[in-house]
Amino acid sequence: MLAGKKIVLGITGSIAAYKAACLCRALIKKGAEVQVVITPAGKEFITPVTLSALTQKPVVSAFFTANDGTWHSHVDIGLWADLMLIAPATAATIGKMANGIADNMLITTYLSMKAPVFIAPAMDLDMYAHPSTQQNLEKLKSYGNQIIEPATGFLASALEGKGRMEEPDTIVKVLETFFEKKVQLTQKKVLITAGPTYEKIDPVRYISNYSSGKMGFALAEECAARGAEVILITGPVRLETIHPNIKRINVESAEEMHQAALAHFPETDTGILCAAVADYKPVHYSENKLKRKSGESLTLELTPNPDIAKSLGEIKKENQVLVGFALETDNELPNAKEKLQKKNLDFIVLNSLRDAGAGFREDTNKITIIDAEGNAKAFPLKSKKEVAADVMDTITTVRYMSIEEGRRLFHESMKQLENCLKQNDE
Ligand code: CTP
Repeated sequence: MLAGKKIVLGITGSIAAYKAACLCRALIKKGAEVQVVITPAGKEFITPVTLSALTQKPVVSAFFTANDGTWHSHVDIGLWADLMLIAPATAATIGKMANGIADNMLITTYLSMKAPVFIAPAMDLDMYAHPSTQQNLEKLKSYGNQIIEPATGFLASALEGKGRMEEPDTIVKVLETFFEKKVQLTQKKVLITAGPTYEKIDPVRYISNYSSGKMGFALAEECAARGAEVILITGPVRLETIHPNIKRINVESAEEMHQAALAHFPETDTGILCAAVADYKPVHYSENKLKRKSGESLTLELTPNPDIAKSLGEIKKENQVLVGFALETDNELPNAKEKLQKKNLDFIVLNSLRDAGAGFREDTNKITIIDAEGNAKAFPLKSKKEVAADVMDTITTVRYMSIEEGRRLFHESMKQLENCLKQNDE
């Protein structure tokens, strides 16, 4: 997957910079073209001569070459690259990236970068754990950058903990998986519902729930990162989308979400229904604010909202995949299986409020994915981003042939063909 890929390798001033030579070598062995951009501090740890010899390209460090004034364009590098990897990334560089402090060639290149950016931090355990480093990393994640978490182990400070830059082989695998997944859903269109719905009572009040939309938005980013065109129909949430391939449709009520989903589902390959749709809405909407009547109780009459998942299940075609979510508080598996059948889903993703860290508003989730045959696969507690990857891995492996599987079958058929040709020759 790395053959022919153009990779900008950013190197900063960390003792782990010596590993960058192995990283360069490994990327080049896989067929990638590597352009090193190094910070002045990085050059104290590894020489540009080593890196230019490995990459067969001049190493870029300054904005221009001192002897002849040749200008190095960070903009051109940003347009050239298929991916930027900063390994090792020090706390200082992470801080500058998060805050746009463009005082060296690496940061200007990062700010001009059009391609996805991966960051492999390397620092002492306390520096890594410091709230400012963590906040900067969170900021970088929110800009769509991917963090390759450091490993735990022996550090240059002689202390032991989390902060060691991940090993070059592991980093290479992360990049290979990224390029592999990037094409997995190309030419696929995915519809996702997310967030809560608001059911109006009067101009100032509504019925809703605690859904934050985080799971649906994580799924939208994951699908887009895998090459899909995403239609994200979302209730009111305080979230932004990052990937340009996500078309966002904002709705408020279940009825509006239903109409949008019905309009777009026929043109999609997959529907993922992650929204926490209000099951009921008030029968009467009061044009004027309801007034408190002292001592009197107030009864709201509610009527059922459309079941979006069920309506899409009814019009689903043979080649379409429909995935639902079930947030349960008790009798989890039987409830989820019943929903899967009743709504004609292909998969249902179950999460239980009994599991700490799962459910609304959390950044994490603990899921079990159940398929139409009733097979269930449980996953440990993970970030919603990782959960989104697990959901998409499961769907793509089962419903669309996985890339590995495709490759295996292709090699098998090539071998068979070779054998046939050999036999014919004999
Ligand atoms: N769903 C939907 N439209 C609704 C209600 C639910 O599309 N009006 C979808 C949800 O997005 C989810 C699945 O159906 O993918 C299950 O939602 P859930 O609220 O757990 O199921 P309900 O059928 O509403 O059952 P209950 O609330 O009684 O558990």
